[in-house]
This record gives sequence, structure tokens and C-alpha cells, in this order.
Amino acid sequence: MGEKQLWNSIYTDRGMTLWSPPEATVQFVGRFLRKRLDTGRFQDLFPARRILDLGCGNGAAALFLAKMGYETYGIDISESAVTIGRKWLADEGITADLRAGDVSEPLPYPDGHFDAVTCYAVLDHVPMEGALRAVSEVHRVLASPGLFFLTLAGAGSKKFGEGRKVGRNTFKLEDDYEAGAIQHYFDRQDIETLLAGRFRIKDIREVVQKKFDLSFRKEHWSNRWHLTVEKT
Ligand SMILES: C[S@@+](CC[C@H](N)C(=O)[O-])C[C@H]1O[C@@H](n2cnc3c(N)ncnc32)[C@H](O)[C@@H]1O
Repeated sequence: MGEKQLWNSIYTDRGMTLWSPPEATVQFVGRFLRKRLDTGRFQDLFPARRILDLGCGNGAAALFLAKMGYETYGIDISESAVTIGRKWLADEGITADLRAGDVSEPLPYPDGHFDAVTCYAVLDHVPMEGALRAVSEVHRVLASPGLFFLTLAGAGSKKFGEGRKVGRNTFKLEDDYEAGAIQHYFDRQDIETLLAGRFRIKDIREVVQKKFDLSFRKEHWSNRWHLTVEKT
């Protein structure tokens, strides 16, 4: 099964539809783009007008960004996710340009089109060569100055090593609803390679989340890098 069919089936047959924007994307907006001062009052921290959500899934982040007042675009390999997202946004009366496309191929937007790009939990599901092409395209479609917020699974994650090894720090997942998907775990060296010479890091956090079963006998933790970088 190709990547496109796989992600379609994750959304349609396995029910991965996500109805809340990633908290990290909400925090990125509050910290770096537009700070809420009061109900209906904001302070712009960065002069952004147009934003792209890369790997937008069914549009939860796009809906949030559009509601925050940005001209919003989203792209995802899964047509099924994009179809769900378009209907959801239409039902909410919100306008955003969601379309299907592979982020490891040339992006269908002109140079310097966006003031910011967000990308939550996507580039760790793409082989490293594809992730490098995606980052180079993000650099092209970003204006200067432009901000790029991305999160990446970290090599410290407890799930590291699960599944079938298909490359350095890269596995094909075998359980859970993302079974069949590629999972790359980024270490510091990978992050440097990914951003090399193209972006300046403004903020980097390693976010560790622990989840317990109700008896506290089992714990599961994930490590994720949260990076806010600026086009140089
Ligand atoms: C873990 S989900 C995250 C979805 C969304 N960013 C969110 O946080 O709600 C990973 C997403 O990456 C998309 N994806 C995987 N490979 C992709 C590719 N090569 N090009 C575009 N999207 C891709 C999947 O379809 C899926 O929607």
C-alpha cells in the first residue's frame, strides 16, 4: 500500500480524525504570532497575514488559524482527510484553502507566499530525504522574515525501536492506528541536518509527555521536539 492509500485508510477505516488543534500549534501562535490580550483583543507579535499548515490532516489547526484571523492554507497527502476538513470548515462557515498533496514534492504555492508555516507531527512520518525536500520547499514558500513551527518525534521516545527497522532511527510502525506508517525519531544531528544553513532556531523545546494506565502499572511516554525557526 502506498503512503497516500495508507493515510486515507488511517482516516477512514481506523478513525484517526482529529477534532482539536494541536496544543503546540495553539501555543506557537500565542507565543510568536498573536497574543490574546482580552476577549477579542490581540497584540501582533509578528506581522503575519497568510499561514500554511503542512500535513494539515482533517484541518483542525487550519480551522483554529482561520478563526484567529489568518488567511489559511493546508496541504495533506490524504485526500480523505482533506475532504473531511473541507466539509468541517464549510459547516463552521470558515474559509481556508485545503488541498491534497505530498509535502516531499514541490509545493503548489509561489515563492515567499506565506508569513508562517506550521507542521505538527508530519515530517517524522516521511523518509529523511522527503523531509529534507519539504524543508527546502518551506524555505522557498516562506516570505523573509518568515516563521516555521514544526514538531518532530524525538529519539528519546519510549516507542523508539518498536516496529520494523527501515533505516537509521527509522521504523515502520506495526501496531496502533498508525500501523504501516514510517516513524523517524530525530536526534540533534538530524535536526541540524534538516535545518542546515536555511533557518535560525528561535526556540527549541524537548517536550516529554507521560501517560499512565489507571493503575499506574504501565507508563507510556513520548518525546517531541518543538521548534520555532526563522528563515535566514
Ligand atoms: C500524525 S498526523 C498529524 C496531522 C495534523 N498535523 C494534526 O496534528 O492534526 C500526520 C499527518 O501527516 C500526513 N502526511 C504523512 N505523510 C505525508 C506527506 N508525504 N505529505 C503530506 N502529508 C503527509 C498524514 O496524512 C497525516 O494527516
